[in-house]
Amino acid sequence: MLRVGLIGFGIIAKGSHMSAYRRILEENGPVIVEAICDADPSRLEGLEGYRLYTSVDEMLEKEQGKLDFVDICAPCFMHEELSVKAMKAGFHVLCEKPMARSVEECQRMINTSKQTGKLLMNGVCNRFFGAAQYIRGLVQSGELGAVRNADFSRIGFLSSKAGWVRNGKLSGGAMLDLHIHDVDMINWMFGVPKSVSAVAKSFITQDGYDSMSVNYMYEDNMFVHAYCDWVTPQNKYNTRTIAVYFEKGYVYLDRSKGREVFVKVTNDGEITDMTAQIKFDVFYREILYFADCIANGKPVSECLPEDIMNSVRIIMAEMESADKRGQVVDL
Ligand SMILES: NC(=O)c1ccc[n+]([C@@H]2O[C@H](COP(=O)([O-])OP(=O)(O)OC[C@H]3O[C@@H](n4cnc5c(N)ncnc54)[C@H](O)[C@@H]3O)[C@@H](O)[C@H]2O)c1
Repeated sequence: MLRVGLIGFGIIAKGSHMSAYRRILEENGPVIVEAICDADPSRLEGLEGYRLYTSVDEMLEKEQGKLDFVDICAPCFMHEELSVKAMKAGFHVLCEKPMARSVEECQRMINTSKQTGKLLMNGVCNRFFGAAQYIRGLVQSGELGAVRNADFSRIGFLSSKAGWVRNGKLSGGAMLDLHIHDVDMINWMFGVPKSVSAVAKSFITQDGYDSMSVNYMYEDNMFVHAYCDWVTPQNKYNTRTIAVYFEKGYVYLDRSKGREVFVKVTNDGEITDMTAQIKFDVFYREILYFADCIANGKPVSECLPEDIMNSVRIIMAEMESADKRGQVVDL
């Protein structure tokens, strides 16, 4: 049984991560939460059955030999500092997205993982999303021929009241905080693009963008487009769509709120309902995957830190392009 300590007990930890750990426990799975740390003591109120901390340093010291890994769900601007500390203290690290605020921060995390021999996995949860895995499989197998182009959209409203999210220097704005989900899928499915061109606008975030439209250019004029914003109140569908167009057909996924469409359509008109492949229990699958890597001494090959750093590198190029009003930036 692997023992985990959560660091940061806000929206994502209390909701998605704890639900996943509870399910794993109910299924007699291989992971159990034993400790929880949050700098804000009010976040820990009412918790029973866990060793509780308000200081990460104290937790890392007192939990020596008692925990196998920590799950960092603190804000983005703390990811590098906390991951480095935890690995140096001897713990494997699962850290929420985005990996960090810059390529340099990501690189320092990777260096520490190599120096300490501790596993570092950034939780880019969509790599554990069944439909996305299926689409990636189609890209790799060539079943529908080569990819012509693709389109991703992610539209909704920023519900978090946390101050750090609206400060672009701390969160990276919607580009690094929300759009990263699509950027990481684009990187994972199609690789690092040759260049990007982005237009973006700020509404509510200080020093960061809230809406963006980005083109990704690949070899042979293959292109991908992604639109994202978090300033659309009353977007009751909380839009989440992916369309990938191949030489011999296309796939269309709409996992917007209240909808579940996933179809594969071939050029001869055959339509296959793929909804059974959607499987969106991403946090559960992500945690089990990381636990398996720790237990069996395997590298985190589905989420290699160097590859996830590339997603941050793509976002940095997008920010540069948006700052220059859409100028093409090479990667
Ligand atoms: N994978 C996803 O779909 C998804 C969704 C939402 C958030 N996230 C990510 O999860 C992370 C947290 O987001 P959130 O919305 O839960 O934020 P939040 O602000 O609700 O929670 C963060 C918590 O961290 C605590 N904290 C801050 N500094 C700390 C420290 N030094 N030590 C211990 N605790 C500390 C805060 O008190 C707070 O309770 C972010 O990186 C965010 O991007 C991922």
